[in-house]
Amino acid sequence: MHEPAASTATVAPPQRFIEVLKGSALTPPPMWLMRQAGRYLPEYRAVREQAGSFLNLCYNPALAAEVTLQPIRRYGFDAAILFSDILVIPDALGQEVRFVEGEGPRLDPIRNAADLARLKPGDGAGKLDRVLETVARLRQDLPRETALIGFCGAPWTVATYMVAGRGSPDQADARMFAYTDPVAFARLIDTVTEASIGYLDGQVKAGAGALQIFDTWAGVLPDTELERWVVAPTRRIVKELKQRHPNVPIIGFPRGVGAGARHYRHATRVDALSCDTATPLAEMRALAGTGTAVQGNLDPLLLVAGGPLLEARVRETLEAMQGVPFIFNLGHGIVPQTPPENVARLVELVRSSPSGS
Ligand code: CP3
Repeated sequence: MHEPAASTATVAPPQRFIEVLKGSALTPPPMWLMRQAGRYLPEYRAVREQAGSFLNLCYNPALAAEVTLQPIRRYGFDAAILFSDILVIPDALGQEVRFVEGEGPRLDPIRNAADLARLKPGDGAGKLDRVLETVARLRQDLPRETALIGFCGAPWTVATYMVAGRGSPDQADARMFAYTDPVAFARLIDTVTEASIGYLDGQVKAGAGALQIFDTWAGVLPDTELERWVVAPTRRIVKELKQRHPNVPIIGFPRGVGAGARHYRHATRVDALSCDTATPLAEMRALAGTGTAVQGNLDPLLLVAGGPLLEARVRETLEAMQGVPFIFNLGHGIVPQTPPENVARLVELVRSSPSGS
């Protein structure tokens, strides 16, 4: 039976990003950049100023949707990532987050079981509802071939900020908390895990087509602790989300774990790995070759530098990843000093990679 023309016109076009997450190898590969909405774009800085504080921007659905769309309009990336932050979870749990200009996040640190008891799971749902409204707006406003990525921070990485009250180079405060009072620390991890499951579930219901779990500080933990504080809670998040939404791919970003990435992928059952800058291309290819999509891993500073080294490295990456499920990305977030024209050149380089060979 023939479908009437009007109804075939409503069939969703394929999203190349999602196809790769489900195991296809596409040439040229789909691409997006971690932190693609941000201060390197003048149009972002204008909206950011209008919003006042960074968190005001995260909780304003019209403005958050606008800055999410900016890099899509400029560069036509294959995926948009919801504009929000991993620290909206502590903020919604009642541990208020402030961003100090030029210095980063500040929270009142959680040092012990008594501080932990002050968290109020459930109270901050109104704040997260505003982020979910951003997701719903975006799914309406994005081109249909552009995928929408929802995200959260992994419980370990979010906990490092909750315990230290700020960013730190070695996560010493969180490691000491975990080593000296593992029972209380497990309660903190469970609280963040449960909030994250509800938050990601809400994002999928609002229209996110894929999810990424950012574990920026996974690499500071020894093996046994990595298992307990990174792998186990991530596995729980993936399991719950897969039960509710089996078709929504999940990307893990266990930054800095080196050879532990294989075990992380296998044990957490994420669909794809986002590889950091230090991952050798041969390893990235081998990881993809065993049935998982991989994403990565250009050094964000090469994108600042531009020039022949950038071009050589991009070509090398495209060549190494031919024929396996691969998404072009950076190995960590884009930095504010990146010239927008270097991003345009990067898009051109990736998109002009020869197809069908
Ligand atoms: O475009 C996107 O990728 C979506 C939005 C996004 C932001 N942060 C916006 C943001 C995402 C996915 C994040 C994730 C995030 N946030 C991580 C994990 C990934 C990573 O980069 O390691 C972490 C650790 C955070 C916590 C965080 N947020 C810090 C430490 C800082 C301060 C440092 C900085 O770059 O200023 C932020 C602020 C932040 N989050 C900004 C943006 C665009 C800059 C703030 C501003 O515009 O004033």
